[in-house]
Amino acid sequence: MSQSAQSQFRHTPVLVDEVCELLINDLSGIYVDGTFGLGGHTKALSSRLNADAILIGIDQDQTALNQFTPSLVQQPLHLVCTNFENMDQVLVDLGITKIHGILLDLGLNSFSLDDPERGFAFSLQGPLDMRFDRSNELTAEIVVNNYSQEKLAEVIYRYGEERNSRRIARRIVQMRTEKRLTRSNELKQAVIKSVDPRFRNKSLARVFQAFRIEVNREMEVLSTVLDSAISLLVPGGRIAVISYHSLEDRMVKLHFRNLSQDIPRQPGMTEDEIKIPLLKRITTKPIIADQAEASINPRARSAKLRVAERTDHATE
Ligand SMILES: C[S@@+](CC[C@H](N)C(=O)[O-])C[C@H]1O[C@@H](n2cnc3c(N)ncnc32)[C@H](O)[C@@H]1O
Repeated sequence: MSQSAQSQFRHTPVLVDEVCELLINDLSGIYVDGTFGLGGHTKALSSRLNADAILIGIDQDQTALNQFTPSLVQQPLHLVCTNFENMDQVLVDLGITKIHGILLDLGLNSFSLDDPERGFAFSLQGPLDMRFDRSNELTAEIVVNNYSQEKLAEVIYRYGEERNSRRIARRIVQMRTEKRLTRSNELKQAVIKSVDPRFRNKSLARVFQAFRIEVNREMEVLSTVLDSAISLLVPGGRIAVISYHSLEDRMVKLHFRNLSQDIPRQPGMTEDEIKIPLLKRITTKPIIADQAEASINPRARSAKLRVAERTDHATE
């Protein structure tokens, strides 16, 4: 992306006041922003925390991390380019064992979404890439050209919840027998030719989402990080997750619900068998953006924030 395009770029973090209010439990604590992106949430957290707090920003997209000016925060800030599934190791490397808060603002940063070269947006012309981490081998081009028709349909159905999945998969396979598909526009054509024009944009959004989730193993890494992140929290420490589609939100909801459930005492249970739930849900219903935020920040319209707190004497 050109310098001028970069300077024109604007980024507005989603549900920023709600995140700060619900996540901060110790003004001098250690906070991990597992999806640092352009640093919008970290900057807001920094402005509310004491100078002796510690901030850790993780993102697997080095291009995003490069956009941030560290002098914008007053606390020590450690920026690490890796997948958030490696959060435990990041903390070990920093000599940190417990943290006070973790934020995950899932999905894409707008900088990458707007860059045609990343191939995320069906409205832009670009290569079929879709990797958050460009050092990974698996690209959307490999998925689109190498997966069997059945596997393509499964990906589109499972991760895009698109009911025309079989028809779209058949069309992709037809098109790729003539020529390897390498551009986002070619995937777009496969979808357009397979669905009712009235629902075209919804189907395009679902199919592009499905391939992005597959390329980046998004559901798998989310499940991993939810487990490890919770065990890194101090008692009273909090985890906040903002998700943008129903698959993610469902996973977060179930995870928080399962870990916050009381295990009923049964007669004859030993002390070891009586487990105190790991979490207490701070939000039972997700927090969504109000009208004012949704009208100025389109990305906020689909955002759902859920927050949970590590209980005091939890047994893991
Ligand atoms: C919605 S953006 C975050 C925006 C950020 N909260 C801000 O205010 O600038 C999501 C970011 O998470 C990153 N990301 C997504 N999945 C990731 C993962 N598994 N590990 C590390 N970073 C990830 C993306 O590269 C992207 O930069």
